Amino acid sequence: MGRREVFLEEMGLGPVWRRRGEPAEAAPQEQVPELDWTGLKDAVAACTACDLHKTRTRTVFGVGDENADWLFVGEAPGADEDAVGEPFVGQAGKLLDNMLKSIGLKRGENVYIANVVKSRPPGNRNPLPGEIAACFPYLKRQIELIRPRLIVTLGKVASETLLGREATIAGLRGKVHAYQGIPLIVTYHPAYLLRTLNDKAKAWEDLCLARETMQNLQSGAPVAI
Ligand code: URA
Repeated sequence: MGRREVFLEEMGLGPVWRRRGEPAEAAPQEQVPELDWTGLKDAVAACTACDLHKTRTRTVFGVGDENADWLFVGEAPGADEDAVGEPFVGQAGKLLDNMLKSIGLKRGENVYIANVVKSRPPGNRNPLPGEIAACFPYLKRQIELIRPRLIVTLGKVASETLLGREATIAGLRGKVHAYQGIPLIVTYHPAYLLRTLNDKAKAWEDLCLARETMQNLQSGAPVAI
């Protein structure tokens, strides 16, 4: 819930109606760590913390089971996602859905999908460091609320952002890392795999590692991080 809604509710003036499509008031960034799902969604929808708000059609918050064991994190919305408001709905999204299927998963069923950056960088360029920094509190809060058992990062931007260091996917994949104590596995971004068919076999290995790690986590077997 945004500040205005909280205030009006406390004054006994709720419920608060908004015109369809009208964004809620943005919560100040320092309040993000305390927001619930509704407040966080409102804050993202109204965010003007970086210049991407000037060119986006809509924000892309994330989608799926808010209590999921699995969290997949991509980079930023593309044109299709900017139009629809959901992550990974274009060609890369079709491949991601197939990647999920290959290890027995389905979008929305014990799976949550989010991006590091919630607004589309124009021309599909990579998000700038300042845009990532401005948006990261939202992903951080999403992870705190979901409390996934396992995070799978898709590509360099998501991997570097959650691991807090620069690296290549080739250097990071094949082992279990951690974000705030949550096991994290790195794999290639589906858009990259669409262009680089030779690395699909490596992505399959990463997915198998992720599936095995989840099985261990669910059965209480030790997971070496
Ligand atoms: N690429 C991403 O990283 N995220 C999306 O939502 C779509 C494409």
